This record gives sequence, C-alpha cells and structure tokens, in this order.
Amino acid sequence: MKIAIGCDHGGFELKEAVREYLEQEGIGYKDHGAFSTDSVDYVPIAAKAARQVAAGEADYGILICSTGIGISIAANKVKGIRAALCTNEFCAEMTRRHNNANILCMGGKVVDRETAVKLVKIFLHTEFEGGRHQRRISQIAQIEEESLAQAFHGKFAAEEKKNVFVLDHPLIQHKLTFLRDMSTGTKNFRELVSEIATLMCYEATRDLPLMDVETVTPMQKTVTKMIAGRKLAFVPILRAGLGMVDGMLNLVPSAKVGHIGLYRDHETLKPVEYYNKLPEDMAERDVIVLDPMLATGGSAVDAITIVKRSHPKSVKFLCIIAAPEGIEVLTKEHPDVQVYCAAVDEKLNDNGYILPGLGDAGDRIFGTI
Ligand code: PRP
Ligand code: URA
Repeated sequence: MKIAIGCDHGGFELKEAVREYLEQEGIGYKDHGAFSTDSVDYVPIAAKAARQVAAGEADYGILICSTGIGISIAANKVKGIRAALCTNEFCAEMTRRHNNANILCMGGKVVDRETAVKLVKIFLHTEFEGGRHQRRISQIAQIEEESLAQAFHGKFAAEEKKNVFVLDHPLIQHKLTFLRDMSTGTKNFRELVSEIATLMCYEATRDLPLMDVETVTPMQKTVTKMIAGRKLAFVPILRAGLGMVDGMLNLVPSAKVGHIGLYRDHETLKPVEYYNKLPEDMAERDVIVLDPMLATGGSAVDAITIVKRSHPKSVKFLCIIAAPEGIEVLTKEHPDVQVYCAAVDEKLNDNGYILPGLGDAGDRIFGTI
C-alpha cells in the first residue's frame, strides 16, 4: 500500500504523527510537505497529493490543515477524488464503507494525535461496500463529467449568451484550409467535408451521458462506461449536408438519418422546401442538423423548425463555416439550439455568399460547378 500525505503549517504536527504511524506499520508513503510549521498555502500541496491518488500512483491520501476544511475542498477539485473530512471514528469508517473515500482529511486543531492515528487505521483498513453506494459514487462521477463538458463548452463559446461553439481543434482548422482552397478538386473536397464532420461529431457529442456497466475482461470483472441509452438522429439539409453524413456515421453508426430538402431561391435568398423524410421515432431522439454552410441562416432556421415539429428531445446544428449574420438569425429564432461550427467568417456578400467562405458547398461536393 502507498499513501500520499500532505499538510500545511496548521497540520504539520499531526502529519508527523501520521508519518510515524505509517513508518511503524511499514506502509509506504510520499510526503508532499509541508516540512515545518512555517506558513504555506495548502492548495498546491493538496493538489499534488490528490493528483497522485487520482492517477493511481497512491492507494489513498491523508491531508491535514488546521480545520481540515480548506485542504479537503482543494483536494475535491481534482477529478476522481473523494476527500472526506473526518473528526471521529464513525465518520472514518462510514466514508470508506459508503463513499469509497480515497483521501482522509483531518484538522490539526480539531483532533489530537491519538485520535488521528485511530482514524488513519480505520480509514486504511475499511472496505467499500459497493452495491447501492456504487450507484451514488457513479452519480458523483457524472457531475464531474458534466462540469468538464460545461467547461469545454465555455471555452469554445464564441459569445457567452449565444449557444455557439467554435471548434478550433488544429486538425479541423488544418483541413478547413484545404477545403477553402479553390484549387481543391471535387474528390478531395468531398473527403475533407467528411473528415471534418467526423472531427466535429467527436466534439459535438462530448456531452452524451455515460452509465456504468459491468464488464468481464480476460483478467477480471470491472466497471466501465457506456453511452447511457441516448438515441441520435442526423438530419442533413440537402444537398450539401449529405456530404457530412458518412463522417458523422463513422462515429455513431447506429444513428438514424432523416433528410430535409431545401434550396435557396437565387432571387429572394429564401429557402424553398422540396423534400422531408424524418425517422418515425424522432420524439425519442437527440437530433443534429447538418449543413456545411450557415449563410443568411434561412435554411437552418426552416430546417430546425421542421425538425422541431416532430418533438425531438433536443436539437443541435452542426455546420463547417458560419457567417455572423446567420448566427444572429439562427440564435434569435432558435435560442435553445446549440450551434457548432469550425469557423465564423467575416460577412456575406450581396448574393448571400460567405466571405471568405469556400464558395458553393453543394456544387463543390457534387461537382456541379
Ligand atoms: C446552401 C447551403 C445551405 C444554404 C445556406 O445550400 O448548403 O443549405 O445554402 O444558406 P442560407 O443560410 O442563406 O440559407 P443551397 O441553397 O445552395 O442548396 P444546395 O445544397 O442544394 O446546393
Ligand atoms: N451556400 C453556400 O454553399 N455557400 C455560401 O457561401 C453561402 C451559401
């Protein structure tokens, strides 16, 4: 067994008592400090010890500050950490049995040396009960996953109020450069649209909820993750959206595909509907509407309105290039719809084409230029 220990000045003396106990018992440990009663910040010490536990390099952690509160709050910010502040033997036992706590926190001004050693002994030698408690631990882990997804979304939100996420992954940006290039031929253009769709799909599905499942590896039984029963539907806007479908299905082969046929009237720039075929069970599905281009926003707004008539669970819109004008219109008409794009370009020209853009996406995909 290996233990990560740490403290600040207020917990130093108690940590020394814990250290002596570990040495007596022949239990290995890594001491992350502090090494005296000189004032130090507990946060980096908590982070180092907690990361060692989270990485599986230590079985448990023991952290001590004056009250145990600050150092436990800090440790609990590390993903995978369940740090429990304990003041008595009952808490030390129950937090292992029910919470599968992996770090014991104590207050140097709250418990005496003898009690601290008792709590450590109980903590290190009490087994987790599993069962219904595993379900609760999984629910805690789910909160962590959701927080990470939110942080991810926050990072890419073009504007906080708008539900717009610009996916600036280097691979997407690199491929987009070739997609824009007027010398890129039809075959390469089509492949690039598909590859970009795959990369964007990966990011746009980041918030899919997971559930725990029991798996038997050749070595042992273990608990692993699966997507929690979400059903997806991809709805390309014809024609150009078709170019994104295979790329999306590469990652989610079980998704159903609906089609909405719209073309922009060249005079009015307004979308005209000519085809509509959606899966029957749309009410059970999370939908991602696909179109490489969001220009005036007319096509996307109409397609999403059509999709919403079938009452899907949620709708996202995935495009490759968006014009600011299109984002404005789409987020105003459908504020609940998250918009994912690889770039927000400068503006539209008088004919409603995106600048610098890539030209007419449908024509370039199907070679009808
Ligand atoms: C393009 C594009 C979008 C639409 C975007 O389709 O694929 O569907 O224009 O423009 P908007 O935001 O101003 O509505 P287009 O009408 O050229 O039809 P196509 O896909 O059949 O070529
Ligand atoms: N549709 C396209 O295909 N390209 C644009 O720039 C605008 C609308």
